[in-house]
Amino acid sequence: MEQTRSGFSGKLGFVLAAAGSAVGLGNIWRFPYLAAKYGGGVFLLVYILLAVTFGFALMVAEIALGRKAQLSAVSAFSKLNRKFSFLGYLASIVPMIILPYYSVIGGWVTKYLVAFCTGNMSAAAQDGYFNNYISSTGEPILYFAVFLGLTALIVLLGVEKGIEKVSKIMMPVLVVLSLGVAVYSVCLPGALDGVIYYIKPDFSHFSVTTVLAAMGQLFYSMSLAMGVMITYGSYMKKDVNIESATRQISLFDTGIAFFSGLMIIPAVFSFSGGDQSALGQGPGLMFVTLPKVFETFPGGTVIGAVFFLLVLFAALTSSISLMETVVSIFIDKFGWKRKITCFAVLLGSVVLGLLSTLGYGVWAEVKIIGMQFLDFFDFISNSVIMPIVALITCIFVGYVIKPQTVIDEVETEGARFKSKKLFVVMIKYIAPIFIVLILISSVLNALGIMKI
Ligand code: PHE
Repeated sequence: MEQTRSGFSGKLGFVLAAAGSAVGLGNIWRFPYLAAKYGGGVFLLVYILLAVTFGFALMVAEIALGRKAQLSAVSAFSKLNRKFSFLGYLASIVPMIILPYYSVIGGWVTKYLVAFCTGNMSAAAQDGYFNNYISSTGEPILYFAVFLGLTALIVLLGVEKGIEKVSKIMMPVLVVLSLGVAVYSVCLPGALDGVIYYIKPDFSHFSVTTVLAAMGQLFYSMSLAMGVMITYGSYMKKDVNIESATRQISLFDTGIAFFSGLMIIPAVFSFSGGDQSALGQGPGLMFVTLPKVFETFPGGTVIGAVFFLLVLFAALTSSISLMETVVSIFIDKFGWKRKITCFAVLLGSVVLGLLSTLGYGVWAEVKIIGMQFLDFFDFISNSVIMPIVALITCIFVGYVIKPQTVIDEVETEGARFKSKKLFVVMIKYIAPIFIVLILISSVLNALGIMKI
């Protein structure tokens, strides 16, 4: 099996592809609305602190596990310790749940891009446009299918030809585009207050909720706790330095999230005329606010189109990694052919994705523990399974195979693991305690006992 495993051609290819997985809707759509809602600068500070400690340790662990085992999540855990094969299965459920609904949101982005490109910006800026759109039937299904189909096509081309080539082009474009839009946004009249709100920590906004929200965002944004980085690690060459690759990936991920906040939050300040209630609006922030914002720009149609193109790029590289993870699980486990596997995963995702799309429309009445399908899938993966997987991964690395196993893998071919101490303390003590806190609070929150 090992000699047929294709791989990334080098460090740059690996870093760009892994960064392509990490940078996605989580950075551009989710991070800004969370930062806006949970106190701006304080949230940003907490997030960055967590990213360089906890996120770093978990990512190093996952990539090292994958490279050591040379297998994707399911098989990797059972190869390292038979008793832990259940962890691989648990982890691999997450991308199977996320891929379909991620593609539904990717479909919304595609729709906005098309709307801007066809000169329908003003319509998109109308009140109720977003809600009307997501609750209709035909178009959201069409755009969901387009997004998912594109993802499947790239995955079908295989690791080197598909994912790496696409990432090599998309990621640098993404950085340049997001920088440009962020600079534009910061220079808008009245945007300075937004910049201050976003960058200057105001500790009166600090609460446990800030930490919990930042923590949940960290898993999602860095594609952790779901086997993605294990799979990518298995494609990584032995001479690539895991530690510095991880540093670069998290820098990329956090950087894009930071610029996304800078694109959106100051703009909200600038165009809301001092009314900051828009900051707390949640998931709709990007879709509802930005078209209104772009509409008042000179040349807003073009800027808006560029922006949604950027979001689409980022979402695609992430959905590619989700699908690749699922596909490689089936290939490794059952020895299926790539083509057939892609097709099967595509079919399964269409079915699950349809539930999510229709759940906002004709099936709005159908609720699972009070949530619509999409929200339920998001909740069960991000707030329940991922923290559990992360927790057991920490226990697995910290106490079963021991941190030394990961350290040895990082230090192959003479590399030195500079943050070894930080890694051990994080994996054995700090991370598990944090995760237990998140888990408890997210469950209490869902049950309505505690409002986050
Ligand atoms: N990390 C991606 C983002 O920020 C989402 C993602 C989650 C991708 C899980 C792959 C796996 O949007």
